[in-house]
Amino acid sequence: MKVLVLGGGGREHALAWKLQQESGVREVLCAPGNPGTATCARNVPLDILSPAAVTAFVQAEGVDLTVVGPEQPLAAGVSDALRAAGFAVFGPSQAAARLETSKAYSKAFMERHGVPTARARICDTADQADAAVAAFGAPVVVKADGLAAGKGVTVATTVEEALAAVDAAMRQGSFGAAGSTVVIEECLVGPEVSFFALCDGTRGLPIGSAQDHKRAFDNDEGPNTGGMGALAPSPLVDAALVDRVMRTVVEPVLAGMRSEGTPFAGVLYCGLMLTADGPKVIEFNVRFGDPEAQVVLPLLPVDLAPLLLAASAGQLPTEPLPPPTGARVGVVLASGGYPGAMTTGFPIEGLDVAAAADVTVFHAGTARGAGPDEVVTSGGRVLTVVGEGPDLRTARDRAYDGVARISFQDMQFRRDIAAKYV
Ligand code: AMP
Ligand code: GLY
Repeated sequence: MKVLVLGGGGREHALAWKLQQESGVREVLCAPGNPGTATCARNVPLDILSPAAVTAFVQAEGVDLTVVGPEQPLAAGVSDALRAAGFAVFGPSQAAARLETSKAYSKAFMERHGVPTARARICDTADQADAAVAAFGAPVVVKADGLAAGKGVTVATTVEEALAAVDAAMRQGSFGAAGSTVVIEECLVGPEVSFFALCDGTRGLPIGSAQDHKRAFDNDEGPNTGGMGALAPSPLVDAALVDRVMRTVVEPVLAGMRSEGTPFAGVLYCGLMLTADGPKVIEFNVRFGDPEAQVVLPLLPVDLAPLLLAASAGQLPTEPLPPPTGARVGVVLASGGYPGAMTTGFPIEGLDVAAAADVTVFHAGTARGAGPDEVVTSGGRVLTVVGEGPDLRTARDRAYDGVARISFQDMQFRRDIAAKYV
């Protein structure tokens, strides 16, 4: 099988790395990829937001399966174009991707189908939103409707802070069109876990859980980021919780999407809060998480390509996967200043030494430097260093051993990834 992975971050490196090890996969292509994916795939230049360009490429190259990494190509209709042209693609349709791309759609959908989530009001004007904030009182959460690169959510501890967030989104247009509708919702309390299920339109197959670390600094301080580190599997997710989430979240979503004419096929990433009243959905994503993919995919006890193909063909297996053995901890190395302003282009030292038998270094914001074999920083999140082990403690120690061998100017990372659980 010839597989094309769309995207160029740490998640896509993990996808390519996993797929390339499988006997059923002849070649992996990655568009645009990065210097990390170049070690396990053929990087190809391609406008991955253009449905026509991707379809023409898949046709010309004879690609058997396209795996969409990030959400933007899904929002742009790339999977619809591929499917319409008769090509196998792993990733939901543009309409089904609204579970992630519109928080207002997603919230209303959950309410229609009884999926447990925070109580909320969807507001189309700033005055409505101000009134909703007043009605809920503090603490309260303000969410811009559309994709806002992880910056659209404010968990406000005071009414003033919430009103300021409404003002920024709706009167000042800080998020452009993404903020013209907002969701105001009750603040949930509890630990947060990420739950992943492959879906084929009808059936869901749980493939693992993880915990992200979203804040920039230790002790969950500082601004929200795309994710500064992750662990898998989540020690908070046992077999009973998997069953409960499948029954109360994944299955109602699949049935609801089907009944509304927009069946969901792809990976449903359920961002859950484990509240005193049981698991509630904070958000859905319709693609693998980053950095969660870097810890979840290496733990999969089976080949990924046949599962992704089966999901795209409406034929997921009915038997559950064997449980994973061992654990993974991933530490993100970011450019100084991330998620704010930062400088990039610095040489990265120690990549080869860090990659040992029990440490895998996934590239995200990296680029080729001028010198032979030189790799430089090119983005906010630069690398995810993943340690493996029989348990979280060993995996964590190994990840940080790897981190200690890598350096670049202004390197920023959290020292407490998975610390709570060892
Ligand atoms: P999101 O972009 O939807 O993932 O939200 C970013 C973060 O905001 C989440 O990871 C949560 O930590 C927090 N959050 C979102 N919604 C709520 C809520 N209803 N109650 C408490 N925290 C929330
Ligand atoms: N790590 C969170 C995300 O991928 O959205």
